Order: sequence, then structure tokens, then C-alpha cells
Amino acid sequence: MSQRTRVGVVFGGPSREHGVSFLSARCLLQNLPVDRYEALPVFVGKDGLWHGVAESREEMLRYFARPPREALLDGVVPGSRPAPAADTVESFGAAFRDGTWDVAFPIVHGTFGEDGVLQGLFEAMNVPYVGFGVAASAVGMDKVLMKAAFAAAGIPQVRSVGVPAAAWRAHARRAALLPRIEALGLPLFVKPACAGSSVGITKVKKPGDLEAAVETALAVDATALVEEAVDAREIECAVLEGENGPTEASLPGEIVPAHEFYDYEDKYIDDRSYSVIPAEIPEATREEVRRMACAAFDAVGGAGFARVDFFLERATGRVLLNEINSLPGFTPISMFPKMWEAAGLPLDALLDRLVRSAFRRPVRGR
Ligand SMILES: Nc1ncnc2c1ncn2[C@@H]1O[C@H](COP(=O)(O)OP(=O)(O)O)[C@@H](O)[C@H]1O
Ligand SMILES: [Mg+2]
Repeated sequence: MSQRTRVGVVFGGPSREHGVSFLSARCLLQNLPVDRYEALPVFVGKDGLWHGVAESREEMLRYFARPPREALLDGVVPGSRPAPAADTVESFGAAFRDGTWDVAFPIVHGTFGEDGVLQGLFEAMNVPYVGFGVAASAVGMDKVLMKAAFAAAGIPQVRSVGVPAAAWRAHARRAALLPRIEALGLPLFVKPACAGSSVGITKVKKPGDLEAAVETALAVDATALVEEAVDAREIECAVLEGENGPTEASLPGEIVPAHEFYDYEDKYIDDRSYSVIPAEIPEATREEVRRMACAAFDAVGGAGFARVDFFLERATGRVLLNEINSLPGFTPISMFPKMWEAAGLPLDALLDRLVRSAFRRPVRGR
């Protein structure tokens, strides 16, 4: 048994999506094939402190004893402070010595886990890890940078304008941005460049509401993104790094949101949204989605896996890329594992493949 690979399943973390990550981690801990892997829980607190295996298990038990709604929404709140630096470094060392993982499988959604910060730590510590590298994580988390990468690869997207806080706050620069925003028409979607799970997103239906919406987004991140709203179906596609060949795409699925847009409550709490897998779309559209999903993954330099989200415009049938998610959820309702299952790849084989992908990453600069 000692030959098994030790996989540190890292969850929690200082993000607003702290709570969601427990569900994903539990799914990994329960489904990594036991003949090959010893899955060890590694909890990172909202304060950024790391915990050993026994404490991490206890934290999991405490979490699942709580009312599900409260636990899911439990995340870092604005203004909260991290633990002192020395404690954080020491806690990482202690957690690593306790687990001596051969490889980390981070499933920490949102900031810290999905934006390259955690990946940078693993790089610095020489720990192999599953998923996007540092630069790809950072680009994939920032909606403005992501769009620039997709545009450079010629992938169709909705029209948008990036609004840095400094520009919005300077009279002349704001005056230069406003006509570009007006040209997008109404309604608009205003989002923080970096956030996730619909935090800080507003749908703007009349011009007078733009200002407040941009401020809401800028309270979450230093850059906002203003986008034209499209009347569209929401199609998602799961992607895997190729094993010896090109990037691979699953069969696409469709999300049918219950609310006006697919927001945080809708995603995790309200069960009136539902998914259809595989999506009922024409074959040519399906193939276009799969091709674009792989192109999006390649455009940001993705590794391991990702979920790529699209708009299928109702009036025109056009497929527009919305975003890439480098750490898609692994909860019982999550699309990523369900889409692979529909494509013939069961969860244990999927997780096995993901862990193996961590060892293929080239060692940078050495
Ligand atoms: N330009 C848009 N047109 C129509 N609906 C949108 C647009 N942008 C976002 N939405 C809606 O808001 C949801 C969340 O937006 P998204 O950009 O995916 O943010 P997040 O990173 O929080 O998932 C989408 O799933 C969709 O329902
Ligand atoms: Mg989204």
C-alpha cells in the first residue's frame, strides 16, 4: 500500500468561495481510486493558515454538521485580515511534513486558489500540482486579460470595455470611456475583472444605473468589465489536457438558470436551475463549441483541466465564448464531472487522469 501516490487535496482558502470548496474536496477524497492514491485532506483556513491531515478531517466534519446553506455561503468577508506571514509559512511547512504529499490537487475556488497565488507557492516549494500553472491561472481568473488572450486567438466573444478604477475616477478618462460603453447599448453586464461565482455582477437596464454598477464591481476588484448583454442559452464544455495529443473536449451541456442570470444562489443553493447533458443543440453547433473550448484552453496556456462557458445567441445561433474556469466545481451538481461522465469517462478514471497530468508539467527554467 505504501506504493500509492500521496495526493494532498487542498481546500478552503481565503476566498469568498471558501465554503463551496469543501464540497469539491469531499468529492475528490471519496473518488480518487484507492488502489493507486492515498488522498489526504489539506485544509487552508480563511486566514490563510494550513492544517495537517487530522485537523483537516475535523474541519470537514464540522463543515458537514452545519446547515448546508450557511456552510456554502461561508466565505471571506471584505476587510478580514490574514494570519501573520511567519505563521502562514510555518503552517505550510508543518502541513506538508504531516502529509508529505507527492502531488497537490488544489480545489480552492476563487482568489488565492484559482488566480496563480497558490500555484506560485507550489512552484516555489517544488510540489507538483494539478491544473493551470501560474500565468495561465492569473490570466484565466481575470476577465479583462482572458478576453485579450481570446481575442488574440480570434475566438468570438461579446463586445466589452475594460474599466480600470484609476480611469473611472479621472474625469477626462471616464469621459473617454463613456461613449465606448454607450456603443454597447442596453442592457449591460458589469462585472469585477477578478471575482468568480457572480460576486459583484450587476445587470444594468437603464443608463442611470451604470455608475452604481461600476462602483459595485470596483469594490471587488481594481478593474471592472462592462459587457453587452446577449439573449442566449448558456452552454458549457469540459476540457482536458491531451495525454499524448491535442486538448480534448467533452460533450457540451446546457445550464438553464432559474433567475435572471446564473448567480451565486442559483449555482449552489436554489435548486430550480437545472442542467441538460448532453445539450440539445445542432451537431454543427456542438462541434463548434468543442473546437472553441479547446482553442480557449490553448489560448491561455491551460494545463490539466478546465470548464469553458459559452453563450449560444438565441436570435442568430452564434456561439460566443464567455469565460474559462480553471478550477471548476466538483460538487454533486457540478457540470465538469457530469459532462465527462456523459462522454464516457467516469469520475475515478477522470481523477486518475488529472493527477497523472500534474507530473507532465515541464520543470520551468531548470
Ligand atoms: N454578457 C452577458 N449577457 C448575458 N448574460 C450574461 C452576460 N454576462 C454574464 N451573464 C450572466 O451572468 C452569469 C455570471 O456571469 P459570468 O461572467 O459567467 O461570471 P462568473 O465568473 O461569476 O461565473 C452568467 O452565467 C450569465 O447567466
Ligand atoms: Mg460564469
